[in-house]
Amino acid sequence: MIPTRLIEKKRRGQELDREELESFFLGFLRGEIPDYQMAAFLMAVHFNGLSRPELESLLDLMIHSGDVLDLGAIPEPKVDKHSTGGVGDKTSLVLAPLAAELGLCVPMMSGRGLGHTAGTLDKLEAIPGFRTQLTLGEFRSILDRIGVAMIGQTEEIAPLDRRLYALRDATSTVPSVPLIAASIMSKKLAEGLDGLVLDVKTGEGAFLPNLEDSLELARTMVTLGEERAVRTTALVTDMGAPLGTAVGNGLETREAFRCLAGDGPEDLAEISATLVGEMLFLGDLAGTPEEGFQRAQEALASGRGMGRMESLVELQGGDPSVVENPSEIPGAPEVAVLEAGSSGFVGVISPTALGYGVVELGGGRLRMGDPVDLRVGFNLRVGLGDRVEPGDPVGEVHARDSVGIKRGLEILEQAVDLQEEAPLVPPSLVRHRLDVSE
Ligand code: URA
Repeated sequence: MIPTRLIEKKRRGQELDREELESFFLGFLRGEIPDYQMAAFLMAVHFNGLSRPELESLLDLMIHSGDVLDLGAIPEPKVDKHSTGGVGDKTSLVLAPLAAELGLCVPMMSGRGLGHTAGTLDKLEAIPGFRTQLTLGEFRSILDRIGVAMIGQTEEIAPLDRRLYALRDATSTVPSVPLIAASIMSKKLAEGLDGLVLDVKTGEGAFLPNLEDSLELARTMVTLGEERAVRTTALVTDMGAPLGTAVGNGLETREAFRCLAGDGPEDLAEISATLVGEMLFLGDLAGTPEEGFQRAQEALASGRGMGRMESLVELQGGDPSVVENPSEIPGAPEVAVLEAGSSGFVGVISPTALGYGVVELGGGRLRMGDPVDLRVGFNLRVGLGDRVEPGDPVGEVHARDSVGIKRGLEILEQAVDLQEEAPLVPPSLVRHRLDVSE
């Protein structure tokens, strides 16, 4: 195999066969293909896409670059959820214990925040003592005991994805439908699942802001999952504004625990119950997604998932008291409130501005491996469509020092736009539902 010939083929939009892809990608994993050649190839894919057979081959190579879990000994249906990444999206922390409480096994492997989107692992690590790097043996044993465990992708799972993702991040080749689909599905299909619910974000704060691209990504992933005998549905959900009111790791964990106790916010509670409803349906524990939604909604409102979350935190080395007392999660030393300078309706709350704002305050990473301050971020005090008057609180900035506060207030002011007319606020965050019949 001559690497430049394969790059050239993809650059010209020609199709590569399975052997060519295998020698190129496995060569990369073995260190024989340098990063610069893989980066050139990924950029060619970014522009020219992958044919269906190419995507299938890449997905297989990624899955089998590591171990595939066999959780067959666990009797409960094994169902997970994966989000394509958004701002303020702390759904996993609400949904995983709730779904386990309602009878599912949830073997959740999550990622870290990158760019303007935050990651579940960072949010979990805001809990004092919580360990996300468990061995597969520890992971299985916690799943056996309480039906839910939340860890980082281990060395053994889809190592080719990990190497490729780091390179895509550094070469601006993340927003590509086939590359995102292969990346997400390789990790999920290696988890040994019966069912998978995908939360595909669309709108300004999503990796793929355009609705058509989000739908294509959703369709592609549903097909890949179903072809591999994993019941898969996708919800395309709105990321035109942050989810909930908290943006920033520790603040989001606090909000997720309040939601788990039945104390909203409404959008987070709605989307969490909707996703759990889908999971129950896929796991054959509800006859329809709507029936699953009703059960999840009732369980959420009555705080039923809290005990399960406490067990999870304890078994993973953390302090379980924070579930009931979220304010014990360490906070930033400085907090300031932005007040509205004029009257109007909240027309825009830019997720991208707030997401990158957290990075600027030290709470996110621009490169994998960057250190993060889990305490910083924003707490919104207004939602889309709210009417505000001069002096009303718009939101809080949580920062390390006064420099952070000053910058945070500027970011918040730019992110929240007031307008004269009341904006049209979509009635539901769920824009589309896709399953195998689409
Ligand atoms: N999340 C992933 O796991 N992979 C991508 O490529 C994008 C989002």
